[in-house]
Amino acid sequence: MSTALSSRYKNLQVEGRGPVVVLRIHRPDVLNALNRETLGEIEDCARRFVADAEQHALIVTGSGAKSFISGADINELAVLDPRGAEDISRFGQRVLDVLEQSPKPVIAAINGYAFGGGCELALACHLRLASENAVLGLPEVSLGIIPGYGGTQRLPRLVGPARAIELMTTARRVKADEAERIGLVNRVVAQDQLLAEAEKLALAILKNGPLAVAAVLEAVNRGMQLPLADGLRFESGLFGILAASEDMHEGLKAFLEKRPAQYQRR
Ligand code: COA
Repeated sequence: MSTALSSRYKNLQVEGRGPVVVLRIHRPDVLNALNRETLGEIEDCARRFVADAEQHALIVTGSGAKSFISGADINELAVLDPRGAEDISRFGQRVLDVLEQSPKPVIAAINGYAFGGGCELALACHLRLASENAVLGLPEVSLGIIPGYGGTQRLPRLVGPARAIELMTTARRVKADEAERIGLVNRVVAQDQLLAEAEKLALAILKNGPLAVAAVLEAVNRGMQLPLADGLRFESGLFGILAASEDMHEGLKAFLEKRPAQYQRR
């Protein structure tokens, strides 16, 4: 069953599909470019998702068949002074951090153009599915600017520094098949199947122990920023914390009793 929840926002359409929330960026006149107002709405929506006990996975996509997000809104960028530029960069980073730090899975369903801030938003999601018509890139240098919503930091972590530097310095845009080959997206799917596949992926994750899934997300996110030895210690800490949960005992017991686990999120 799907429920529209979108009346709260001007530039977002939000739809509940059982435990999965679909957030669509909706600014058709500018191919879903992110202005400050939209960033603020995404932050609000993401924080509500994280806090909501009934919502367990978030899919972010763009409205229409052509564009995921065409980038930061160039109309706003064009009038920035140095202070305003740094400020909008920090704001965009903060908003995308909410997605990345969500303890519940966040999936980008990239349904077309994902440039600049749109690509950066996808990079902050835990998983990325792309439709066959998707094109991704961080073309900021072609405008005389740099990625400011985390792209210079997240892209090299995902595809390696050499590929990241090539893509960001040439401003080259990559089609879906290349994006998949270099690990920029997890998988390419037919355009008309994109949302269904994203939902299927979300539901596959939601079958598993939710505290364990949250611990994986935290271990990977934090671990990517740590030396290996510190990351390993962090992993062991989370492993120990999970052992205090009812869910861990339920998961292991259910296997031994040959029945599906009934996770209680505690
Ligand atoms: N910010 C503001 N407006 C944007 C935009 C952005 N990032 N991207 C597209 N638009 C606007 C266009 O100006 C155009 O407005 P208009 O109808 O008033 O002229 C409208 O969206 C449609 O775009 P258009 O360029 O006509 O569509 P297209 O299909 O020919 O090309 C793109 C689509 C995405 C390839 C092209 O618009 C583009 O290169 N956009 C900029 C991408 C970018 O550099 N992003 C990083 C920004 S930091």
